[in-house]
Amino acid sequence: MQVLGIETSCDETGVAIYDSEKGLLAHTLYSQIGMHVEYGGVVPELASRDHVRKTLPLIEEAMQIAGLLRQDIQGVAYTAGPGLVGALMVGATIGRSIGFAWKVPTMGVHHMEGHLLAPMLEENRPEFPFIALLVSGGHTQLVKVARMGSYEIIGDTLDDAVGEAFDKTAKLLGMGYPGGAALSALAEQGDIKRFRFPRPMIDRPGLDFSFSGLKTFAVNTAATQGLDEQTKADIAAAFQEAVIDTLLIKCRRAIQQTGWKRLIVAGGVGANRVLRQRLQTMLANEGGAVYFPRHEFCTDNGAMIAYVGCQRLLAGQQDGLEIQVYPRWALESLPPI
Ligand code: KG4
Ligand code: ZN
Repeated sequence: MQVLGIETSCDETGVAIYDSEKGLLAHTLYSQIGMHVEYGGVVPELASRDHVRKTLPLIEEAMQIAGLLRQDIQGVAYTAGPGLVGALMVGATIGRSIGFAWKVPTMGVHHMEGHLLAPMLEENRPEFPFIALLVSGGHTQLVKVARMGSYEIIGDTLDDAVGEAFDKTAKLLGMGYPGGAALSALAEQGDIKRFRFPRPMIDRPGLDFSFSGLKTFAVNTAATQGLDEQTKADIAAAFQEAVIDTLLIKCRRAIQQTGWKRLIVAGGVGANRVLRQRLQTMLANEGGAVYFPRHEFCTDNGAMIAYVGCQRLLAGQQDGLEIQVYPRWALESLPPI
């Protein structure tokens, strides 16, 4: 089955074609970040309008790259939530309409299920069951994945998501939006010993996270120390160190509690080099293994949506003719595959 996937939940328009036998045939992506950067965050109305402009040209491009004609497509998948309602409506309307015109079934996909299963697009893919660490701009969750389609959230953030904490701290240090990647690059030049940030929640049992205190700690450190270039790098390094330590401790705890020794990491923060390295070492010590999507599939993309849509369509699931999106949507409410 060859499935066209469309992702428009936030500020990236992603399109891909996934073949259940041959794997990924094509993917195209347009990032709107350059447009939102002057506002310091995503402007929902501008995001929707830009998805309207970009989605069809990207679909045409992906079809050309894959060398396919419309009659080669057997299903269409689009992100139906969670995300910005207007942005979601664009992808859902286009996806549903193409399905209607081409007379093929369509499937609304959960964006976080897409992130969660993105490692399945790689050659080195995990077997079920596994633990997933979802770390994006909007989510920080530990999820037990018994099998495809079965998700149990065992740890969640009580306040800021980890990507959000990265972005807010980056903003404090004078970086553009979203500053997570820039902050981690700056951290490479910092001295991790100069400041010691707290490791939130590690002394409490359980698997929940809290990151807003780290942001406050960064604000206070900046206020007392001033913000010369070296201090900025040292704050970035201390902040990143505290975040990674905290994530590591909770992942280890999840592995020990469940006895499941496979961990997958997904979402934009999964692109962080130090996090990847440290998790690899930790899992090796625990006798397990960690799996990551390639860098470009850590952040939003159409490939993960095409993949999940394909699995659900193959299982006989499909959406009705009415177009529905879910700005908030619990991962645990998804039907099994
Ligand atoms: O998954 P994603 O593309 O979008 C959401 O669905 O949220 O994640 C974006 C988040 C942003 O907060 C961005 O700053 C962060 O991932 N991010 C990073 C890195 N690259 C992206 N955070 C830390 N280190 C990085 N290298
Ligand atoms: Zn995402």
